[in-house]
Amino acid sequence: MHVLITGGTGYIGSIAVEIMRTQGFEVSILDDCSTGHADSVPTGLRFVAGSLLVRADIDQALEGVDAVLHFAGKSLVGESVEKPELYQRINVDGTRNLLDAMKSAHVMKMVFSSSAATYGEPKEVPIRESAATLPTNPYGATKLAIDHMITAESKTHHLSAVSLRYFNVAGAHKAERGWLSERHNPETHLIPNVLRSTPNNPVRIFGTDWQTPDGTCIRDYVHVVDLVNAHIKALETLTGTGHEIYNLGSGTGYSVRQVIAAAEKATGQAIPTQDSPRRDGDPAVLVADISRAKQYLQWEPSLGIEEMVADTLQSFQ
Ligand code: UFG
Repeated sequence: MHVLITGGTGYIGSIAVEIMRTQGFEVSILDDCSTGHADSVPTGLRFVAGSLLVRADIDQALEGVDAVLHFAGKSLVGESVEKPELYQRINVDGTRNLLDAMKSAHVMKMVFSSSAATYGEPKEVPIRESAATLPTNPYGATKLAIDHMITAESKTHHLSAVSLRYFNVAGAHKAERGWLSERHNPETHLIPNVLRSTPNNPVRIFGTDWQTPDGTCIRDYVHVVDLVNAHIKALETLTGTGHEIYNLGSGTGYSVRQVIAAAEKATGQAIPTQDSPRRDGDPAVLVADISRAKQYLQWEPSLGIEEMVADTLQSFQ
């Protein structure tokens, strides 16, 4: 099967490229490298260094393709609050272009990177796919708008699609040519920031007065390799038409302090920290109910917080 991976030079996309090509998929990449890294592209793959906003780039990338894994997009909550129009243009308008081009090219299968941010502040935890979707920031709103667009496309144009709602993705993957990992600039994610913490630049703990057992936010971390494997399983379910939505997490929550403790165990050293005010837009607790993915994708995460911390640490060395 020939798969187009949009955003294939980014953190998750580049690891998907690597795992899928080693499993025998033919892989093409479409990425403008605005936040990704062209040096992650393995030799021998078709790489269109282009944009979702340029129809000719998408058409070129779709040639001979059977299915699309759509990772490309803007993904920072804070940035989306400052630049909502950028998120609308790249995420929503870009995906509209992609869906139109797929229709013209008769590519009828898609797996989309949606987000737990579509749910907003949950009323019940763990969060099920049937929960209300009331995003609290423009990033989540764009992911939800795309989910709705894909549902419409599956009804009107027979698209067969899955949206995977990621919780907190972490960890790294060792390819033959070296580690593939998070290389965001600036880095906003907790685990890399904890592992880079120094006495002069300690990791900040955003809020210590949340209504949680230790006062810090609780999140559901899932290893990037488990996450990519869920995409491959989702791809296998794409027969007929329709649009299914699955949460991807581990089903277990860890507080910020618990993540720091796991990092201290992995490094054998105390991690310097600085108690700081709450970060805008953060809900107190986000934990996934993953029973739907377990049942219908036959998927289960196999790597825990220890592996996520250890792999991230190794990828930095
Ligand atoms: N945190 C800190 N210090 C830091 C970084 C993060 O205390 O330096 C805290 C945050 O306040 C939060 C937790 O650690 O409570 C996790 O924060 P991340 O920035 O690592 O991840 P988010 O939960 O903010 O967001 C991630 C993705 C989003 C996605 C969301 C869904 O980045 O795209 O998970 O759960 F929408």
